[in-house]
Amino acid sequence: MPKSLISIHDFSKDEMLHILDMAAKFEANPFQTILKGKVVACIFFEPSTRTRLSFETAANRLGARIIGFSDADNTSVSKGETLKDTIKMVSNYADLIIMRHPLEGSARYASEVSGVPVINAGDGANQHPSQTLLDLYSIFKTQGRLSDLSINMVGDLKYGRTVHSLLQAMSHFSPLFTFTAPDELMMPQEYKKYLLSKGISYRETKELTEYLNDTDILYMTRVQQERFLDPIEYERVKNVYSLNASMLDGCRSNMRILHPLPRVNEISTDVDSSEHAYYFEQARNGVFTRMAIIAYLLGKEI
Ligand code: CP
Repeated sequence: MPKSLISIHDFSKDEMLHILDMAAKFEANPFQTILKGKVVACIFFEPSTRTRLSFETAANRLGARIIGFSDADNTSVSKGETLKDTIKMVSNYADLIIMRHPLEGSARYASEVSGVPVINAGDGANQHPSQTLLDLYSIFKTQGRLSDLSINMVGDLKYGRTVHSLLQAMSHFSPLFTFTAPDELMMPQEYKKYLLSKGISYRETKELTEYLNDTDILYMTRVQQERFLDPIEYERVKNVYSLNASMLDGCRSNMRILHPLPRVNEISTDVDSSEHAYYFEQARNGVFTRMAIIAYLLGKEI
């Protein structure tokens, strides 16, 4: 089976650092057509702006051609074709598959039936490992290191696949975690147990401002309406946090605000012009990081 990126655990610490090194080289020189003649398939069963377009930009800059779909309703899935058959077909056509799907575990399953590498571009509330690698790249660029940082994760920590992947990746770098969430959206026990098994500390709060001045990376997340089975529960928590510029007065000068985006109400637009805001640059970093991931999985080094 070819090497895929389904969970952040599929990459060792050394591999993650290698990807960050490659990303820096691609950022310095983004036009390297080392994948001329290759075909990359982007198949998205769920909406996306950043992940799909940055992967497509990355593949284009590497000289690959792109096939795929952004709406499965226009494919034979709408006639009842299974995920297994769909993946077997696409792996006949492409050298690499990038897939987003609403079902947890779907990406792992796809990698098991595919003849070519699969990149998980998000599977339900489970994992989003390419987002995590671009988050690591953004953290390294803004802090100059990955080790011994205070990482404050805010918002939907229950269903947020980006925070689950990031927590596992950062566990290599002795972080102090803060989990800021209402009771309904707290970090699940399995992830807290994972941290305890690694000897990593965390603290929990419901108050956004409680640990703001003691934070290096403030990782904001959206409360994701699409993950709630009960609309009343969503209504209760949808506006639970709203970061505004006046809250940033006592923050560390190195503190940077990350957000996988899209945002809704959790970051006020008056934060955008703050020196602490980094979420748009973070999304830009996605192109270089995804160039590195695609090249690495296809066995190309720079
Ligand atoms: N960060 C992220 O996954 O954004 P999209 O849903 O727009 O791809």
